[in-house]
Amino acid sequence: MSNIYQPTPENINKAAETIKNGGLVAMPTETVYGLGANVYDAQAVASIFEAKQRPFFDPLISHIAEADFLKTYAQTDERVMALAKKFWPGPLTMILKRKDNNSAIDLACSGLPNIAVRMPAHPVALELIRQSGVPIVAPSANKFKSISPTTAEHVRESLGEKVNMILDGGACKVGVESTIIDVTGKQVVILRAGGTSKEDLSCFLNEEVLLSDGTPDKPSAPGQLLKHYAPGRPLRINAATRQPGEFFIGFGNIKDADLNLSPKGDLCEAAGNLFAFLRLADKQEGYQSLAISPIPEQGLGLAINDRIKRASYK
Ligand code: TXA
Ligand code: MG
Repeated sequence: MSNIYQPTPENINKAAETIKNGGLVAMPTETVYGLGANVYDAQAVASIFEAKQRPFFDPLISHIAEADFLKTYAQTDERVMALAKKFWPGPLTMILKRKDNNSAIDLACSGLPNIAVRMPAHPVALELIRQSGVPIVAPSANKFKSISPTTAEHVRESLGEKVNMILDGGACKVGVESTIIDVTGKQVVILRAGGTSKEDLSCFLNEEVLLSDGTPDKPSAPGQLLKHYAPGRPLRINAATRQPGEFFIGFGNIKDADLNLSPKGDLCEAAGNLFAFLRLADKQEGYQSLAISPIPEQGLGLAINDRIKRASYK
């Protein structure tokens, strides 16, 4: 029997009960599907790490349904609340200082003094969080280091029966993970490029936003590994044309592509197609490797290039 459920009121209710009882529910968000559990249930949180085969040093994002709840959950200031008001619900995760005396969420935070929080822009996720009555921690619902899921079927392929319920909310609209910003310091630092562009953030804040390069001044998220999002076959990036034996994923006006992320060169469309196309390409018979066109380094292009660079890492 399939563990994929349509998001009817009854099924969302059943999923909320599953979360409350310490189970795992895969939920749709606007970025990618998340593997959700009750943040306060250490055993449930531990089972996320186990299902994904993810190391415990890599902390999880808490998903909440009301921006105002943030004030009781983490340390906030005016800038944080302004960012929440502007960009939530949406693909932006903020790294905040934790509140004291909240050791129940130690495991979710990998024992770090900071916590990652976001409010997803998907009605099914928001309803599930509301009905569960707790923040839901959710990493992307795939095995550690592999391609992130943008459909319910991708989740089933990756995690199968390890998840109690998969709520099917259709294909994810944004298609790459949220942008993670560290707002604990004077200047805002992007730890992971994602669905909210650097340009939009610096325009709203009216100040320069830094991009992490892994140096101590601008550290990156613990989960930003060199090899990540990886298909089973080698991937060549910045490919102008196809080489023998390659399955070629194009972008823009490319004649000989097997698949094209966006023939009209639209970066939002390309981000939406990225993970599904990598999975599809990886399944084609008769090819030794994959290649992908150059992607402009602007807007969502930063997130796309970050993902394919890691996916191509040898
Ligand atoms: O769009 C998304 O963000 C998706 C959906 C499901 O919400 N979630 C997601 O989670 O991408 P995950 O676990 O695949 O990636 C979370 C990243 C990891 O690189 C982790 O190291 C980082 O967030 N992170 C979490 N908590 C952190 C913290 N306290 N400090 C620094 N980085 C943190
Ligand atoms: Mg992930």
